[in-house]
Amino acid sequence: MTVLVTGAAGGIGTAIAAACARQGAVVAAVDRVEAVPDPTLPAEVRDRIVAFAADISTPEGCTRTVAEVLAHFGAIGGLVNCAGVMRRGALLETDEDDWEATYAVNVAAVVRLCRAVLPTMIDAGSGAIVNIASQWGLQPAAGHIAYNSSKAAVASLSRSLARDYGAAGIRVNSICPGEILTPMVQRKLDDSGITEAELAGSIPLGRLGRPSEVAELTTFLLSDRASFISGAAVEIAGAQQVG
Ligand SMILES: NC(=O)c1ccc[n+]([C@@H]2O[C@H](COP(=O)([O-])OP(=O)(O)OC[C@H]3O[C@@H](n4cnc5c(N)ncnc54)[C@H](O)[C@@H]3O)[C@@H](O)[C@H]2O)c1
Repeated sequence: MTVLVTGAAGGIGTAIAAACARQGAVVAAVDRVEAVPDPTLPAEVRDRIVAFAADISTPEGCTRTVAEVLAHFGAIGGLVNCAGVMRRGALLETDEDDWEATYAVNVAAVVRLCRAVLPTMIDAGSGAIVNIASQWGLQPAAGHIAYNSSKAAVASLSRSLARDYGAAGIRVNSICPGEILTPMVQRKLDDSGITEAELAGSIPLGRLGRPSEVAELTTFLLSDRASFISGAAVEIAGAQQVG
């Protein structure tokens, strides 16, 4: 199966690309910056990951990316929308740019990439889409209104797609991670002065999640092992409650 993964140069996206390739998929690793495969992977696994540099914040960026991936691989059986941006602030602390930047990547790109990929999945009679939302889309964290609401939209879009395209053999789920130790969360720790240990103290399992744990869930949801799971928003958050 060919899997298109966006945000594939980021903390979680790199792990998802590696996990998909380890399970035998060929991976179109899409990111604004070049997605370098995990160097610890065996060469034959690394070779299944092909980087595509693209900015998916525009309609053209999305359609061009899918066209390039289809020209290269001929089909796309799995789509993982993992690219995301976080702008902080309560409503009166955010401006137009914060909302546009957040919604362009976190929401509009998901819509556009699904719209561009669905026809090839419908033709094939099968396909699986996993959208990386956030626990904060289900339980909003204070001071992150643009991000929280964009991720609520991702969970809702995923359920709608599941209902609308299930009869075509396509499954769509969202994953709602809590605190996973990646550059995005490291930036949050650096900006706030909160230590990793302090953040871990608010998580019943006593630690932050690992990108590989989100990747494990993603490959499961993409696979036939999850053949009756569609329209779900799966939390992976170590039992943490937000707020
Ligand atoms: N880390 C967490 O704790 C956490 C929790 C909940 C949800 N998430 C979500 O998981 C996903 C991955 O997060 P991460 O922590 O790995 O973040 P990250 O910042 O490490 O990675 C995000 C990637 O998205 C790419 N990207 C952003 N804008 C893009 C654009 N316009 N075009 C192409 N690529 C673009 C970035 O270049 C980056 O490589 C995001 O959607 C994030 O919202 C993360």
